[in-house]
Amino acid sequence: MEIIILKNAEDVAAMGGELVTELLRVSPAAVLGLATGGTQLALYRTLVAKHRAGEVSFRDTTSFNLDEYLGITADNPQSYRAYMKREFFDHIDIDQRNTFLPECVEGQNPVLVGSGYEQQIRDAGGIALQVLGIGGNGHIGFNEPSSSLNSRTRVKTLTRQTFEDNSRLFSGNELQPTLAITMGIASIMDARRILLLATGENKAEAVGKMVEGPVTAMCPASILQMHERVTVLLDEAAAGRLKNRDYYDWTHLQNESLKDRFGRSHES
Ligand code: PGA
Repeated sequence: MEIIILKNAEDVAAMGGELVTELLRVSPAAVLGLATGGTQLALYRTLVAKHRAGEVSFRDTTSFNLDEYLGITADNPQSYRAYMKREFFDHIDIDQRNTFLPECVEGQNPVLVGSGYEQQIRDAGGIALQVLGIGGNGHIGFNEPSSSLNSRTRVKTLTRQTFEDNSRLFSGNELQPTLAITMGIASIMDARRILLLATGENKAEAVGKMVEGPVTAMCPASILQMHERVTVLLDEAAAGRLKNRDYYDWTHLQNESLKDRFGRSHES
């Protein structure tokens, strides 16, 4: 894992935006894996600003989101489709026919939706870059602790903690879903590169377990230790529990000087 610790959430979004932009400059048709949640809002704002400044185009890009609430329709403002449109898709030049979420409305079979989603990702050539957040409990997507590390897109029940973390987004009289359909952990691990963003003190414990703890289904993000190409962007607060902090900073400095000397080609 490449661990990069930056001053604040703004710098995390700026660097995340730069990495996505660099990829699309080299491969304009790259398939992106996208995430929702509070952390990613700053990333989308950065990318929208870059798009408006003419620095990046999404015209030839296809995207697959990690997850969606089960049984929610796209016109529901709480759906992740609505979030993606509001925060990102409606402000860039992506062809929204090429934006996918694992949407499963009443009457559809979630098992078939799950296997169909996996097939769509394969047909698109696989995900070049998967953007991730991390839950306070170490989840990625809605793969809650105890999820199979070999899982594929399927229905998951939210933990009480996730349900409560997300309740701030629902008003008192709205029905908050307890089920979601999410890419599995194995689906996420298939991405060729992973970019995980975490900011704020409430993520520090999960980040510590992900980076320095054992690989365990009780911290689903810890599986990323087994991926060849993961970049973790953290602010100071989210990095607060890392024991090897000095080493990560030192490595980052070395990598920067490698880029100066050899370009980015040394990166696999
Ligand atoms: P957050 O969600 O960015 O809203 O904290 C992250 C996640 O649960 O994956």
